[in-house]
Amino acid sequence: MDKMLNTIIRSTGAAVPETVITNSDLEKMVDTSDQWIVSRTGIRERRKLEDGFSNIDLTEKASREALERAALDPSELDMIIVATVTPDHPTPSTSCLLQARLKAFKAAAVDLSAGCTGFIYALTVGHQFIRSGAYRNVLVVGVEVLTRVTDWEDRSTCVLFGDGAGAVVLGPTEEERGILDFSLHADGRGAQLLMVPAGGSAMPASEETLHNRMHFIKMNGNEIFKFAVKVVEENLAELMNGQNLQPENLDFLFLHQANLRIIDHIRKRLKLSQEKVPVNIDRFGNTSSATIPISIHEEIVAGRLAEGDLVAMVAFGAGLTWGGILIKW
Ligand code: UT7
Repeated sequence: MDKMLNTIIRSTGAAVPETVITNSDLEKMVDTSDQWIVSRTGIRERRKLEDGFSNIDLTEKASREALERAALDPSELDMIIVATVTPDHPTPSTSCLLQARLKAFKAAAVDLSAGCTGFIYALTVGHQFIRSGAYRNVLVVGVEVLTRVTDWEDRSTCVLFGDGAGAVVLGPTEEERGILDFSLHADGRGAQLLMVPAGGSAMPASEETLHNRMHFIKMNGNEIFKFAVKVVEENLAELMNGQNLQPENLDFLFLHQANLRIIDHIRKRLKLSQEKVPVNIDRFGNTSSATIPISIHEEIVAGRLAEGDLVAMVAFGAGLTWGGILIKW
């Protein structure tokens, strides 16, 4: 039997809208304060996609950058996986819209919904196709336009979310590097903790659902916070123990950017320096499945993340879902 191939991330790309919404902008919309938002979340500003644009525009921009950085023509793509909970339409998938825009007509295309863990799930799925030898070139995107499902009258959620996209090109290698392990989890008993209740087949759009603002994100922040602190540490331990590694061996730990207090708490418990645990929630807010790929792209562009680095990424979110990936870059 042929040797299993390893999967590497060949390149990255990212896109965020130009429009910035600051905390003081939000002070004019709801009963909140810059002081509350910064101290409770670490968020100072977030990006909001301009009218006339949609998910596919961010998706395409991040994808084109990743493809250019890999020097890969879209016609070479074997598969496109887009992780999002804010697609352009319930159907067809954003990945099919992307396939058409890129003219990547050889590529299979599918969307994946796993909340803020979407990018980790999508990366793991792409990894399986490469490792098995079925595909060589897989494009994975984490993208959200959460401002379109945000209730701008609900101060408990509207201060948190932002729009953005991150993309990676995956490819095979026979070198001793690439994805070392993954670990995916879900607990559907927590489905009610974070949801958009209306607009699906359970509660189709009606005057009543619009009136009751049921097309917007509803979240039990406290419960998600407790869940996140617990599962992130467990997940990372699972990944590290599986490879006989310790947190101090990590060069980078990319955590889902949902709350700076969660990130700082975990970083301190693991005794990792700030340089090893990048933060972008202050500038972009919570962009769900896009937080980690945007953050990785920023470290690559800054020249800080390089071949040979030991990198972990861990996310958690709606579903409930959580998961992580360990890579020797
Ligand atoms: O991406 C994955 C999913 N999301 C998450 O992981 C989010 C995880 N959760 C969190 O980040 C935090 O729970 C939040 C940031 C959402 C909330 O922070 P908290 O420290 O848990 O605040 P809280 O919900 O317990 O609210 C404390 C107080 C409440 O007032 P009372 O009842 O104590 O008088 C809220 O009404 O803060 C109030 N509050 C606000 N005040 C000013 C809630 N939102 C705001 C706000 N501005 N924007």
